[in-house]
Amino acid sequence: VFAGIAQAPEDPILGVTVAYNKDPSPVKLNLGVGAYRTEEGKPLVLNVVRHAEQILINNPSRVKEYLPITGLAEFNKLSAKLIFGADSPAIQENRVTTVQCLSGTGSLRVGGEFLARHYHERTIYIPLPTWGNHPKVFTLAGLTVRSYRYYDPTTRGLDFKGLLEDLSSAPSGAIVLLHACAHNPTGVDPTSDQWEQIRQLMRSKSLLPFFDSAYQGFATGSLDKDAQSVRMFVADGGELLMAQSYAKNMGLYGERVGALSIVCGSADVAVRVESQLKLVIRPMYSNPPIHGASIVATILKDSNMFNEWTVELKGMADRIIRMRQQLFDALKTRGTPGDWSHIIKQIGMFTFTGLNSDQVAFMRQEYHIYMTSDGRISMAGLSTRTIPHLADAIHTAVTK
Ligand code: LMR
Repeated sequence: VFAGIAQAPEDPILGVTVAYNKDPSPVKLNLGVGAYRTEEGKPLVLNVVRHAEQILINNPSRVKEYLPITGLAEFNKLSAKLIFGADSPAIQENRVTTVQCLSGTGSLRVGGEFLARHYHERTIYIPLPTWGNHPKVFTLAGLTVRSYRYYDPTTRGLDFKGLLEDLSSAPSGAIVLLHACAHNPTGVDPTSDQWEQIRQLMRSKSLLPFFDSAYQGFATGSLDKDAQSVRMFVADGGELLMAQSYAKNMGLYGERVGALSIVCGSADVAVRVESQLKLVIRPMYSNPPIHGASIVATILKDSNMFNEWTVELKGMADRIIRMRQQLFDALKTRGTPGDWSHIIKQIGMFTFTGLNSDQVAFMRQEYHIYMTSDGRISMAGLSTRTIPHLADAIHTAVTK
């Protein structure tokens, strides 16, 4: 019965790893997926995560019962506190409802489906470009996806004028997806002043913010600084949605642990919103897995472990920043034509190199270097040892 089925294309990001795994070359380098690697090129399990797992395993009262539909209550509370701040008025006024979801993607999907069922305006504006999964998640959730200008390839920076124009002409009440920090794939974020202008415009037009926070702590190494944009929107008393992921900042990729928070107008509304979120989640996956959320809760509730985490997180962020400088220096040393200062200006896990799809294909073919076809490279996949290989490849690709 499935004989006529068409072969689907590989995912534009995860498919890069599939191709990389098939390459027998000893010099191959995977800069596709945004996953942290050590200086030795190995995946990293944080020490604080191992420590939390030990505590969990040694707890004799630990069971494997179903979590509630909304997940681990303690994890939800701590996650809201982490992103909105311990002194957030919205939390104090019980206007926030938080549900544990399957990492960032699951949080976006549950939030999208909730909006499609209960919100009056079903159009969501996403930045151009954005993470490749965003349009698919929201379309399948039942929303209409439009884009707003975000990145200017000529300056390799923010197209702020275009962004304001596009949001100004969005219909009143439209949903707007915002990357909380470390925009994926461009590594270009608005300044604080620009965020403030975006906030004023959005609130004046009643545009509903839907934040995606996948990199808290990864942009600057500070959890609070990387939450500043979000906190500006919470401080004005308005409503918003927030999707949080612990994949990168706790290295819990495969544990699929994240949270969706909805900041509502009153405590009473928050209770009703949560009751409807349960109706979205129950037929989708019933209730979320217990292990990853327990790790996060164990770390966030213990001040020593929390501090240990921030040190390890800063270590990862700093290594990425060092890789930026080393790649920039290596291209300068080679006299590679072009202005490569965006490598050190962009922030977060990725550099949006400006390499075109032909150059990307050439580097894969000749140098066994794998990246997404839009020229995005994961800086976290680089090391001092592999930077010369990448710099040689970029140099040849742009001068050939
Ligand atoms: C990425 O953009 O590489 C990550 O967010 C991983 C993913 O799921 O695409």
